[in-house]
Amino acid sequence: MSSLLDIVQVGDPVLRQRARPVAPSDLHRPDLRRLIDDMQGTMRAAPGVGLAAPQVGRSLQLLVIEDPPSLQAKLTPTQLAERQRRPIDFHVLVNPTLTLLGAGAEDDVFEAFEGCLSLKGFVMGVTRARRVRVEALDQHGAEVVLEASGWYARILQHEVDHLHGVLCCDRMDPRTLATVAQHERLWKLASPAEMRRALESAP
Ligand code: CO
Repeated sequence: MSSLLDIVQVGDPVLRQRARPVAPSDLHRPDLRRLIDDMQGTMRAAPGVGLAAPQVGRSLQLLVIEDPPSLQAKLTPTQLAERQRRPIDFHVLVNPTLTLLGAGAEDDVFEAFEGCLSLKGFVMGVTRARRVRVEALDQHGAEVVLEASGWYARILQHEVDHLHGVLCCDRMDPRTLATVAQHERLWKLASPAEMRRALESAP
């Protein structure tokens, strides 16, 4: 059984540090295997689609990702299509390096609302690359190279940012920041761009 870990909230220095690389030989250690299990359980309970070790107070280049169908059920088919969001199986990435693909052209980036388990209660519009490549190790120390697009690429950028002490609020358009409650009430069906336009035309 995994234990639920406390999720560190913004303001804690650990979220702003560069995380240490994990020695591949350490991946066999029981305490690190336990940490991965606990991070999986903590992410599922939150619930969230990704969790990086600094978010549970460990300054290590380690993250977990999972975007199960159950979390997508709240979104309409149009929203899922706009976000290019598809189910992603659970996986672990260790010491990842991320490359933005095709950055430059306007349609290579997209803005969407995102939140963070370490910025509890808020969502914000963040512009990110549509496609990325990640090179990393898995939890057994095997090399992994993956290319991702759409929402999965967004999750990867968000989680790898955590390992560099970067939070999504660093990349947000501040005008799109809202509490989850206000977002649900007013902006649930809007894009960040539509929210900006609505705010500009407000009397
Ligand atoms: Co986060």
